[in-house]
Amino acid sequence: MSRILLITGSRKGIGRYLAEYYLKKDYVVIGFSRSESDLTHANYKHILLDVADEIAVSKSVRAIFKEYKRIDYLINNAGIASMNHFLLTPLSIVSKVFETNFKGTFNFSREVGKIMSRQKFGRIINFTTVARPLNLEGEAVYAASKSAVETFTRVMAKELGHLGITCNLIGPSPIKTDLIKNIPKNKIDDLIQMQAIPEFSEFKDVSNVTDFFLSDESKMITGQTIYLSGVN
Ligand SMILES: NC(=O)c1ccc[n+]([C@@H]2O[C@H](COP(=O)([O-])OP(=O)(O)OC[C@H]3O[C@@H](n4cnc5c(N)ncnc54)[C@H](OP(=O)(O)O)[C@@H]3O)[C@@H](O)[C@H]2O)c1
Repeated sequence: MSRILLITGSRKGIGRYLAEYYLKKDYVVIGFSRSESDLTHANYKHILLDVADEIAVSKSVRAIFKEYKRIDYLINNAGIASMNHFLLTPLSIVSKVFETNFKGTFNFSREVGKIMSRQKFGRIINFTTVARPLNLEGEAVYAASKSAVETFTRVMAKELGHLGITCNLIGPSPIKTDLIKNIPKNKIDDLIQMQAIPEFSEFKDVSNVTDFFLSDESKMITGQTIYLSGVN
């Protein structure tokens, strides 16, 4: 039986790569974003929503469960960044970043977590960033939103651990996607030089980690964070 995987933010970037990667592994993949996706595949369904919209998330997750009868994996990948000195950051940006990165992760984890609790099995992977442990200047709001995601994930791991559900984090270092395309080259170069492995990461470095967290053999791996490029 095919495993059922939900990936938020699957229209482009890392989420799109992961959707295609797990379709190749014969999973049934359900992806989410605010704009239409051009990904077509017999085992792929795309749902339009904003991850911050509690009611839309709840209705969609219930409809998916009704159709597929189970949800095995959730990857909370959808995210936005704000690169600016905090003195120049309006509160509206803070709200938007936290709505997407933290509340979006919360909404999906809660709704999918209820289903996984009943089936006594599940794997949840949330996204953080190396900007969090590096406390990068210019990324105060983005890094703070990912701090919230990290703490939430570690507590969730404790609250769900006895139910056969694992909750882990991947923290990519820079990968060439739209998320980072407006960051000045010298800033990215400086960041890459702070890494133990001073190179851009690639999409396949992410799937290497998600494969590990999703694996049946990883049933004792929970509450953990893997940052790429040797940042810790
Ligand atoms: N790329 C990097 O260097 C890097 C480094 C560290 C961490 N990360 C993390 O990796 C994750 C993916 O980043 P990425 O680089 O792939 O970003 P990206 O290329 O900008 O893609 C973001 C995806 O999220 C979706 N999205 C954004 N806001 C949404 C919302 N409110 N509701 C639903 N979907 C939403 C976008 O689709 P729509 O616009 O259609 O909604 C898009 O599919 C993020 O959590 C990010 O923080 C990335």
